[in-house]
Amino acid sequence: MVEINGNTYTCGLIGNPVEHTMSPVIHNNLASATGENIVYVPFHVETGRLEAAVKGAFGLNILGMNVTVPYKSDVIPFLSDIDPLAQRIGAVNTLVRTENGYKGYNTDMPGLLRAMKHDGVSVEGEQIILLGAGGVARAVAMLLADNGAEKIIILNRTTEKAQKIADEVNEYTGKEIVEVKKLDEYKSLASDRKYLAVQATSVGMYPNVDEAVIEEDEFYNMIHTGYDLIFNPLETKFIKLCRKNGANGFHGYRMLLYQGVIAYELWTGDSVSDELAEQVYEKMLVAMNA
Ligand code: ATR
Repeated sequence: MVEINGNTYTCGLIGNPVEHTMSPVIHNNLASATGENIVYVPFHVETGRLEAAVKGAFGLNILGMNVTVPYKSDVIPFLSDIDPLAQRIGAVNTLVRTENGYKGYNTDMPGLLRAMKHDGVSVEGEQIILLGAGGVARAVAMLLADNGAEKIIILNRTTEKAQKIADEVNEYTGKEIVEVKKLDEYKSLASDRKYLAVQATSVGMYPNVDEAVIEEDEFYNMIHTGYDLIFNPLETKFIKLCRKNGANGFHGYRMLLYQGVIAYELWTGDSVSDELAEQVYEKMLVAMNA
């Protein structure tokens, strides 16, 4: 842990609630390993106090902030600048101090990409099944389209929401890259190939650990890799079903690690090696079981 003195910078997390966050584990370990004189603390921000929190943080010379639920979109009006990716996604999870205020970034999606790279999962040229059409799925659809996915098939309970995302992404890319189906319409997909599936619904998250958004083995036989964005539990029913049917299964805990790593790199200008990231990941696993 960094020894606090007169030259210590503060970084922190604003959200409500913040009590279960892993971010202090990520950033305080990174600070201590890279020799930066930075401490990272959680800030519980009550409803209605977001603007005061951002202004107060700036006034207190706070170097950088993470932003979590429910403020990732609400924080945008209080920023002095916003990165184009965050703007397009409409969600900011990282604030970087500039001369005039904070610039907002989204490191969740680059974090997912870096986690996928670590896990040996490639997006380029893939036909990808995206499960879900909420806020997270929308951002994932943008990320996949931006990174060379050949085709994205969104399966969602409510097809209107999926269609809205498809229209947006297709307009952005200028190609009909996204198509939409109901959950059980996976049966109509070409079966002469295997797909990468990204699980971006909330189904299977603690405490509903015995559920997966699609439960038939037939679906899991169509995929070579399942990537679940959920990390609590680490092994969701979705991942169990992937593995049972011979597909690779990955969880979202490394995405959480890498969104933090990328935020830390933005605040400090340091670059964090994969080796150091893995050391921090080990600490996150210990903290999760504590
Ligand atoms: P987030 O911001 O985390 O993406 P969200 O916007 O509430 O959360 O989206 C949750 C996703 O999980 C949606 O795709 C939702 O499906 P609908 O769009 O039909 O609501 C999906 N989801 C949640 N519970 C579900 C359930 N029991 N069965 C199928 N899909 C479910």
